[in-house]
Amino acid sequence: MVGVYFSGTGNSKYILEVFLKSCQEKAVALAGEDKSRLGKWESVMTFSIENEVAAEAIKAASELVISYPVQYSNIPKILVDFVVSHQEIWAGKKVFVIATMGLFSGDGAGMLARLLQKYGAVISGGLHVKMPDSIGDEKALKRPLEVNKQLVRDAKMKTKQAAEQFVDGRPLQEGLSFMSHLAGLFGQRLYFRNKTRNYTDKLKIDADKCIGCGKCEQLCPMKNIIMNNKTATSGDKCTMCYRCVNQCPKQAITLLGKRVVEQSIIEKYL
Ligand SMILES: Cc1cc2nc3c(=O)[nH]c(=O)nc-3n(C[C@H](O)[C@H](O)[C@H](O)COP(=O)(O)O)c2cc1C
Ligand code: SF4
Ligand code: SF4
Repeated sequence: MVGVYFSGTGNSKYILEVFLKSCQEKAVALAGEDKSRLGKWESVMTFSIENEVAAEAIKAASELVISYPVQYSNIPKILVDFVVSHQEIWAGKKVFVIATMGLFSGDGAGMLARLLQKYGAVISGGLHVKMPDSIGDEKALKRPLEVNKQLVRDAKMKTKQAAEQFVDGRPLQEGLSFMSHLAGLFGQRLYFRNKTRNYTDKLKIDADKCIGCGKCEQLCPMKNIIMNNKTATSGDKCTMCYRCVNQCPKQAITLLGKRVVEQSIIEKYL
């Protein structure tokens, strides 16, 4: 079994790992002494789409679990580009889609499912998981630390249950129905569809706050931030993952908002 993810602040990676570990534990319990009954759960490997061997690993697998963060009820541009630029690797793959979100997506899993189906994948199910909001420079969805910690505990519980059902052959079907499609479309996508259609050039780096540490350059999955003479400069290839905003030690980076309200990464909530 191969797990694949894109994750800005760690939520989608964490949920994928919980899901796959729980599946494997359940499979081991069911197999008992007879290890030959482990089947596809004998080996589990996980790859970020940022890893250059991810496409090869997907090509070699017959079954996949893919996890990603919803952006405006849509798929991050970096993930769309990954799927489309490797369109030959999806045919015949059985895929379970996990979408993580701060509040609501309608058809988060359905969005990616439809794109993968276009290239021949067969969708086995979908899971929606509510996690801490990653938009570090917007107040709207901010919750107190304890509330976020509880949210992650609840998310872990839900994911473990979904994994048990998956191994039992009853995978959840969240976000895949026609009604979910309508909810995603009218809930957000129609109003915000242009936000994720292209990469953005809107990332701002406050030169007065920046100390030139280079962390943002190292973290960015798009190589959208370049260091020059201890000065960080952003380009027009930002996929809005919010990794740099949430990890800059000087809170010098913003994207949608004007100032960093709270830096959010999964490790804070575990
Ligand atoms: C640009 C952007 C747009 C987002 N849009 C939505 C949204 O439409 N609905 C929602 O529930 N959460 C939304 N979120 C929140 C993330 O989906 C959520 O925090 C996710 O778990 C982050 O996962 P990650 O750490 O794997 O990147 C958005 C986050 C970002 C950065
Ligand atoms: S992480 Fe922040 S302080 Fe460090 S170089 Fe980037 S913007 Fe500057
Ligand atoms: S510039 Fe920041 S928010 Fe944009 S893609 Fe790079 S790390 Fe993500």
